[in-house]
Amino acid sequence: MKNLLVTGSSGLIGSEVCRYFGREGGFHVHGIDNNQRAVFFGPQGDTRWNEQQLRLELPHFTHHELDIRNRTGVASLVAALKPAAIVHAAAQPSHDRAAAIPFDDFDTNAGGTLNLLESARRHCPEAPFVHLSTNKVYGDAPNLIPLRELDTRWEYADPAYEHGIAETFTIDQSKHSLFGASKVAADVMVQEYGRYFDMPTCCLRGGCLTGPNHSGVELHGFLSYLVKCNIEGRTYSVFGYKGKQVRDNIHSLDAARFMAAFINAPRSGEVYNLGGGKVNACSILEAFALTEQFTGRPQVHTYVEQARSGDHICYYSDLRKMRAHYPAWDITKTLAQTIEEIVKAWQRRSQ
Ligand SMILES: NC(=O)c1ccc[n+]([C@@H]2O[C@H](COP(=O)([O-])OP(=O)(O)OC[C@H]3O[C@@H](n4cnc5c(N)ncnc54)[C@H](O)[C@@H]3O)[C@@H](O)[C@H]2O)c1
Repeated sequence: MKNLLVTGSSGLIGSEVCRYFGREGGFHVHGIDNNQRAVFFGPQGDTRWNEQQLRLELPHFTHHELDIRNRTGVASLVAALKPAAIVHAAAQPSHDRAAAIPFDDFDTNAGGTLNLLESARRHCPEAPFVHLSTNKVYGDAPNLIPLRELDTRWEYADPAYEHGIAETFTIDQSKHSLFGASKVAADVMVQEYGRYFDMPTCCLRGGCLTGPNHSGVELHGFLSYLVKCNIEGRTYSVFGYKGKQVRDNIHSLDAARFMAAFINAPRSGEVYNLGGGKVNACSILEAFALTEQFTGRPQVHTYVEQARSGDHICYYSDLRKMRAHYPAWDITKTLAQTIEEIVKAWQRRSQ
């Protein structure tokens, strides 16, 4: 069996990728995760439950308790496995958390990515390398686009953005947060290994990646955390922009399906904006209403005037490049379906 190496395998994206390739792809899946999410966010961020599930569910799965900052450890594992493909989803994923832990953030996001890229170059340069990047590489530059205020959301007023933000958008000269900056370093490095060494790499600049297997916390995992608050009757804090700020949400299964398309027909040094696009975009107020439909409970919330530093007011991905390069791929899960699945998952997990 071919080996697939997945970093961050106990997290939202990593675990979805393990399941997808473990069930459908005919791979032996090797997951790397050290439950660092619990270190970043405390017990609410713990991902051990998902690691245990993977061990139970997948007959061809091996967990490796390894920190991606461990350069020799990563190199030895890649040398031993010689994976046929690598999906790199381990990260310090929070925009807001990074300022308090700048070294952990940069060493994980930038240094960890370099460890994986260089190990791949030495031991399996032909293997497609999929890197989970973020729309925060664009910094807060999307906030310079003129907006219209609608009843429940902000919307682009400039017709040039009718389909959303494309991969050609500037990543320069804006406020990124330290997280955005460490992810830019990784993103550019992944592109460089593609262009300079001709390796089959790509960066997926995620909007809101979501799904039932997220361990959502206030500082990361927008929909997962919002639904959790609703179910537990906790107060959800809205930070600025009247709660009309817009995020585009993609189910982790649709993200995994895109990765499979890329791995089957890879390109070099590519960049894609991976989100739910315009149809799966919603504001926080709209997410409250949708969630209430499925739980039957009102969302308890409070409003904080001060917006999060560098937060996007309106962001949705232009999916046209993804569709043009991989025409068989498209979004299959609607926003409502996704929220319903997240509701059911939290109801199960809170029993
Ligand atoms: N979820 C989103 O909304 C979103 C949006 C844009 C980009 N992304 C990117 O997608 C990727 C996956 O995000 P996610 O939502 O699945 O995050 P997640 O926190 O659910 O999963 C990441 C996993 O990586 C592990 N990890 C972290 N540091 C590690 C280290 N040093 N060594 C080994 N394992 C480590 C964590 O324990 C966790 O299980 C990240 O790169 C993130 O920046 C996510």
